Amino acid sequence: MEYIMIEDIRKHEDQEVELRGWLYNKRSTGKLQFLIIRDGTGFIQSVIFKGNFSEEQFDEIDKLNIESSIIIRGKVKEDKRSPIGFEIDVQDFEIVSKADDDYPIQLKEHGADFLLNHRHLWLRTPKQHAIMRIRDEIILASRNFFDTRGFTLIDTPLLSGNACEGTSTLFELDYFGQKAYLSQSGQLYNEAAALAFGKVYCFGPTFRAEKSKTRRHLTEFWMIEPEAAWYHLDDVMKLSEDYVYHLVQSVLKNRQVELKILERDISKLEKIQLPFPRLEYSEVLEKLKEIGIDFEWGKDLGAEEETKISELFDSPLLIHRYPAKAKAFYMEPDPEDSNKALCVDMLAPEGYGEIVGGSERVYKIDVLKRRLKEFDLPEEAFQWYIDLRRFGSVPHGGFGLGIERTVAWICGLKHVREAIPFPRTISRLYP
Ligand code: 4AD
Ligand code: MG
Repeated sequence: MEYIMIEDIRKHEDQEVELRGWLYNKRSTGKLQFLIIRDGTGFIQSVIFKGNFSEEQFDEIDKLNIESSIIIRGKVKEDKRSPIGFEIDVQDFEIVSKADDDYPIQLKEHGADFLLNHRHLWLRTPKQHAIMRIRDEIILASRNFFDTRGFTLIDTPLLSGNACEGTSTLFELDYFGQKAYLSQSGQLYNEAAALAFGKVYCFGPTFRAEKSKTRRHLTEFWMIEPEAAWYHLDDVMKLSEDYVYHLVQSVLKNRQVELKILERDISKLEKIQLPFPRLEYSEVLEKLKEIGIDFEWGKDLGAEEETKISELFDSPLLIHRYPAKAKAFYMEPDPEDSNKALCVDMLAPEGYGEIVGGSERVYKIDVLKRRLKEFDLPEEAFQWYIDLRRFGSVPHGGFGLGIERTVAWICGLKHVREAIPFPRTISRLYP
């Protein structure tokens, strides 16, 4: 008998198959027992008819606790009422491991903290399962997107001697008597790689000692960062919108079942169109004023302003040319007005906030040295980075997209902590 996965069930109608999985839930009507089996690729109802089994076998199933592991063999039958269109008429089963009777996650509402403390088991439930499958799709689509556009994947280090995104959110550690930091971004190393390979990207975990307890902040999150030689701000914006559009289309195409489980309003995702709207930071302030929000020129936008402005658009919004002093040291000043940086943030629709941050990079050595001083960063630690401006410097740029914020938005989740398998926040290191 062929061992198959639940997600392939439709190819096996009326055939006898073997499924290996776990008992997610069950109910009984005396003569019949309905087992919901999950195998990691889906959930399916399996029916045990008393007449086909001995008294002992039927009793064993009746007493079986949820989350026990089990192998079942039986016939795949069409069932119009089933969410996946099929059920199994069980002919034979084998119990692999009986679960204890106190499985902590019940089919009722639990508090967020309780669920997060049981994240190792919570991941088994349909909603969490759907989120992780969409996350996987987003990562796969990212790899495909950059690969087909000629970007080379270059892995950047996680242990580093210099800060990238400001010194206030660095995780510092003792590196054999020397100070080291967990990487906040692969960007600086990406710049070196872009001058060696032209177009590159990195994908990995990044760390921010964020004291903020918002629904958008993790202390460990995954970022995908492309970087390209000869790219100006317009190229960076174009690449970012093509990329995010591609992510949305891939999920809509390949993860309909999961979006349905999450009860996501997909009309919102279907409305997204290229090109995305673009506004300069100062235009954003004018628009905010029109809706009654006074915001002083010079500061980075906060969550509230971001939500309000993005609600005016159906597609993600590109905001460019923020005040230079509100952004990172490596951003190229606008030649038209050096108080502005040639940078861009992309805000997701529906109030999900910033998902992309990027810019053109400083490429003249004197400007870079001045910026390092202004940001109080030690030149010694950046010698290698300064070298990139001594040997064949060219205009270049790139961006970083936060995977969890993107997953949260596409899945319609309230909080980014459900968008990563094992979230790390200021108050969570367990499990
Ligand atoms: O805007 P950020 O800080 O940009 C950079 O790190 C650049 N060096 C990227 C580059 O140009 N190569 O971060 C980029 C994105 C944000 O837009 C957001 O999606 C995500 O990373 N992000 C976080 N996600 C979860 N928790 C946090 N604490 C995050 N901080 C940033
Ligand atoms: Mg940012």
